[in-house]
Amino acid sequence: MAPQRTAINTYATSFTLGEPVTQILTAIQAQDAAALLRDGALVAFPTETVYGLGADATSSEAVARIFEAKARPSFNPLIVHVPDLVAAQKIAVFDDLARQLAAAFWPGPLSVVLPLRPEAGISDLVSAGLDTIAIRVPAHPQAQELLRAAKTPVAAPSANPSGQISPTSAQHVIDGLRGRIEAVIDGGTCAVGLESTILSTRPLTLLRAGGVTVEDIEALGLSVAMRAQNAQLVAPGQLASHYAPNATMRLNAINVGENEVLLGFGDVPADVNLSEAGSLREAATRLFAAMRAADALAGDLKTIAVSPVPMQGLGRAINDRLTRAAAPKDA
Ligand code: TXA
Ligand code: MG
Repeated sequence: MAPQRTAINTYATSFTLGEPVTQILTAIQAQDAAALLRDGALVAFPTETVYGLGADATSSEAVARIFEAKARPSFNPLIVHVPDLVAAQKIAVFDDLARQLAAAFWPGPLSVVLPLRPEAGISDLVSAGLDTIAIRVPAHPQAQELLRAAKTPVAAPSANPSGQISPTSAQHVIDGLRGRIEAVIDGGTCAVGLESTILSTRPLTLLRAGGVTVEDIEALGLSVAMRAQNAQLVAPGQLASHYAPNATMRLNAINVGENEVLLGFGDVPADVNLSEAGSLREAATRLFAAMRAADALAGDLKTIAVSPVPMQGLGRAINDRLTRAAAPKDA
């Protein structure tokens, strides 16, 4: 059934916390969405990376609904979204390095893990009981508008059922979460298309490759350690199987078998092409939508073969997502 477009003035009669969600509001503006958030609702919103599933980060009741809607393992902490560095500094303790990163990359596709200020009132469910917090200032104008109107920090994982492909359009959000969330702000297609890069400091360590590249960080004169393979799990984006389509995937494919769909990169006879021109930026933007399209073509019978993608710049994050998407799902 097509999602119903609903005027906000029907909200009062359509939304009761604790009751099943019967419709998803898709024609909603920042002020109304902010009011919903403050009432404990789940509001999906566009960022330049992927769509986030937002809840008031100071309300455990609201945040618990995120885990429920996504069926997300509760040991996985969430990123808190705020409109600017001033708001971020009320929640986390910034040292010089963290301020340098914020100055260089905020607003933008970077999340930084920093010591949490307990007095900020962030729900324990957001930090999963850790004494650190992942924090991000997104650049997307509608995310900025929502965060400024909300006047509360917003916890937001990607707006997809846990383990599945991340959403880069409002329709992807609706397809995955209809019946479980109250609203989605439609901001079109996400420009970056890959999740934010996650860094921890002391020492500066890459926890998840993303929209800010290692080269971008090194250009500041900083050196970045890669997270050790056997390190304790701190991010579900670090789970072996994640971002997964239904079909099996075969990576670094230089030929296509009879029972395969080719998810291509560059000048190859692809069924779905990440970038015919071989642009990593274009490939990043299209990655998740292309994986969905290839999955639909593959159906239950075919495997998705994927062309090699160079391991540089955004290619590092693209390969990270592809590797996890290809991993055995029971790993
Ligand atoms: O681009 C993005 O980052 C998107 C948009 C919505 O902002 N959000 C996103 O959230 O990708 P999510 O929940 O799918 O991934 C958040 C990652 C997880 O891998 C989580 O484990 C990690 O951030 N994380 C959160 N808090 C952390 C902490 N205190 N220490 C280490 N990792 C943390
Ligand atoms: Mg995610």
